[in-house]
Amino acid sequence: MTTLKIHHIGYLVKKIEKAKTTFEALGYLARQDTIYDDIRKVNICFLEKDGYLIELVSPVSDDSVAAGLMKKYKNSPYHICYETDNLETAFADLCAGGFTAIDAPTPAPAIDGREVVFLTSPNIGMVELLAPQESGALIRCHS
Ligand code: NI
Repeated sequence: MTTLKIHHIGYLVKKIEKAKTTFEALGYLARQDTIYDDIRKVNICFLEKDGYLIELVSPVSDDSVAAGLMKKYKNSPYHICYETDNLETAFADLCAGGFTAIDAPTPAPAIDGREVVFLTSPNIGMVELLAPQESGALIRCHS
Protein backbone atom coordinates (compact mmCIF):
# COMPACT_ATOMS: atom_id res chain seq x y z
CA MET A 1 0.00 0.00 0.00
CA THR A 2 1.30 3.42 -0.88
CA THR A 3 1.37 6.49 1.31
CA LEU A 4 -0.75 9.50 0.38
CA LYS A 5 0.14 12.86 1.87
CA ILE A 6 -1.95 15.99 1.30
CA HIS A 7 0.04 18.34 -0.94
CA HIS A 8 -2.39 21.11 -1.92
CA ILE A 9 -5.99 22.12 -2.42
CA GLY A 10 -6.84 23.11 -6.00
CA TYR A 11 -9.00 26.21 -6.25
CA LEU A 12 -10.70 27.31 -9.48
CA VAL A 13 -10.76 31.07 -10.04
CA LYS A 14 -11.98 33.21 -12.92
CA LYS A 15 -9.38 35.98 -12.54
CA ILE A 16 -6.12 34.73 -11.09
CA GLU A 17 -4.45 38.07 -10.24
CA LYS A 18 -7.56 39.36 -8.45
CA ALA A 19 -7.90 36.04 -6.61
CA LYS A 20 -4.23 36.24 -5.61
CA THR A 21 -4.71 39.75 -4.19
CA THR A 22 -7.74 38.63 -2.18
CA PHE A 23 -5.96 35.55 -0.81
CA GLU A 24 -2.95 37.74 0.09
CA ALA A 25 -5.31 40.04 2.04
CA LEU A 26 -6.36 36.94 4.00
CA GLY A 27 -2.72 36.33 4.91
CA TYR A 28 -1.59 33.94 2.18
CA LEU A 29 1.87 34.34 0.65
CA ALA A 30 2.49 33.66 -3.04
CA ARG A 31 5.09 30.91 -3.43
CA GLN A 32 5.87 31.73 -7.07
CA ASP A 33 4.86 34.03 -9.90
CA THR A 34 1.84 32.91 -11.90
CA ILE A 35 2.88 30.13 -14.29
CA TYR A 36 1.21 29.23 -17.60
CA ASP A 37 0.61 25.48 -17.97
CA ASP A 38 0.46 25.01 -21.74
CA ILE A 39 -0.60 21.36 -21.44
CA ARG A 40 -3.81 22.22 -19.59
CA LYS A 41 -4.14 25.82 -20.87
CA VAL A 42 -4.46 27.26 -17.40
CA ASN A 43 -2.65 29.83 -15.30
CA ILE A 44 -1.48 28.48 -11.96
CA CYS A 45 -0.20 30.10 -8.79
CA PHE A 46 0.63 28.45 -5.46
CA LEU A 47 -0.07 30.32 -2.23
CA GLU A 48 0.73 29.24 1.31
CA LYS A 49 -0.83 29.91 4.71
CA ASP A 50 -0.38 28.10 8.04
CA GLY A 51 1.47 25.27 6.29
CA TYR A 52 -1.34 24.75 3.78
CA LEU A 53 -0.78 25.08 0.05
CA ILE A 54 -3.55 26.40 -2.19
CA GLU A 55 -3.24 26.10 -5.96
CA LEU A 56 -5.12 28.75 -7.90
CA VAL A 57 -6.16 27.43 -11.31
CA SER A 58 -7.64 29.71 -13.95
CA PRO A 59 -8.58 28.62 -17.49
CA VAL A 60 -6.93 30.68 -20.22
CA SER A 61 -8.96 29.50 -23.21
CA ASP A 62 -12.38 27.99 -23.82
CA ASP A 63 -10.89 24.62 -24.84
CA SER A 64 -9.07 24.27 -21.52
CA VAL A 65 -10.23 21.32 -19.39
CA ALA A 66 -10.66 23.83 -16.59
CA ALA A 67 -13.07 25.96 -18.64
CA GLY A 68 -15.69 23.20 -18.42
CA LEU A 69 -15.05 22.83 -14.69
CA MET A 70 -15.42 26.59 -14.24
CA LYS A 71 -18.92 26.48 -15.75
CA LYS A 72 -19.86 23.83 -13.22
CA TYR A 73 -18.09 25.04 -10.06
CA LYS A 74 -17.51 28.84 -10.47
CA ASN A 75 -14.87 30.22 -8.05
CA SER A 76 -14.47 27.22 -5.75
CA PRO A 77 -12.11 24.60 -4.32
CA TYR A 78 -12.41 21.51 -6.54
CA HIS A 79 -9.67 19.00 -5.82
CA ILE A 80 -7.27 17.81 -3.14
CA CYS A 81 -3.86 16.72 -4.41
CA TYR A 82 -2.05 13.85 -2.69
CA GLU A 83 1.70 13.38 -2.94
CA THR A 84 2.50 9.70 -3.40
CA ASP A 85 5.64 7.69 -2.73
CA ASN A 86 4.96 5.82 -5.98
CA LEU A 87 2.64 7.36 -8.58
CA GLU A 88 2.05 4.20 -10.65
CA THR A 89 1.16 2.09 -7.61
CA ALA A 90 -1.06 4.76 -6.06
CA PHE A 91 -2.81 5.28 -9.40
CA ALA A 92 -3.43 1.53 -9.81
CA ASP A 93 -4.65 1.23 -6.19
CA LEU A 94 -7.21 4.01 -6.60
CA CYS A 95 -8.41 2.63 -9.95
CA ALA A 96 -8.89 -0.77 -8.31
CA GLY A 97 -10.69 0.95 -5.43
CA GLY A 98 -13.46 2.53 -7.49
CA PHE A 99 -11.86 5.70 -8.83
CA THR A 100 -11.94 6.46 -12.56
CA ALA A 101 -8.96 8.06 -14.29
CA ILE A 102 -9.74 11.41 -15.93
CA ASP A 103 -6.40 11.65 -17.75
CA ALA A 104 -2.99 9.96 -17.91
CA PRO A 105 0.06 10.98 -15.83
CA THR A 106 1.39 14.24 -17.31
CA PRO A 107 4.12 16.65 -16.16
CA ALA A 108 2.95 19.68 -14.13
CA PRO A 109 5.06 22.74 -15.06
CA ALA A 110 4.03 24.59 -11.87
CA ILE A 111 5.30 21.72 -9.66
CA ASP A 112 8.83 21.36 -11.06
CA GLY A 113 7.55 19.22 -13.95
CA ARG A 114 6.58 16.37 -11.60
CA GLU A 115 3.92 14.06 -13.03
CA VAL A 116 0.33 14.39 -11.89
CA VAL A 117 -2.84 12.48 -12.73
CA PHE A 118 -6.50 13.26 -12.01
CA LEU A 119 -9.12 10.74 -10.98
CA THR A 120 -12.73 10.96 -9.90
CA SER A 121 -14.79 9.07 -7.37
CA PRO A 122 -18.58 8.83 -7.42
CA ASN A 123 -18.45 9.52 -3.67
CA ILE A 124 -15.97 12.41 -3.34
CA GLY A 125 -15.38 13.85 -6.82
CA MET A 126 -11.93 14.82 -8.12
CA VAL A 127 -8.57 13.96 -6.63
CA GLU A 128 -5.07 14.54 -7.98
CA LEU A 129 -2.04 12.33 -7.42
CA LEU A 130 1.49 13.76 -7.53
CA ALA A 131 4.68 11.82 -8.23
CA PRO A 132 7.35 11.83 -5.49
CA GLN A 133 10.08 14.42 -5.62
CA GLU A 134 13.17 12.98 -7.31
CA SER A 135 15.99 12.58 -4.84
CA GLY A 136 18.34 14.53 -7.09
CA ALA A 137 15.85 17.27 -7.96
CA LEU A 138 17.34 19.94 -5.71
CA ILE A 139 20.86 19.55 -7.02
CA ARG A 140 19.94 19.24 -10.70
CA CYS A 141 22.16 21.40 -12.85
CA HIS A 142 21.09 22.88 -16.18
CA SER A 143 24.46 24.23 -17.31
NI1 NI B 1 -3.65 20.50 -8.25
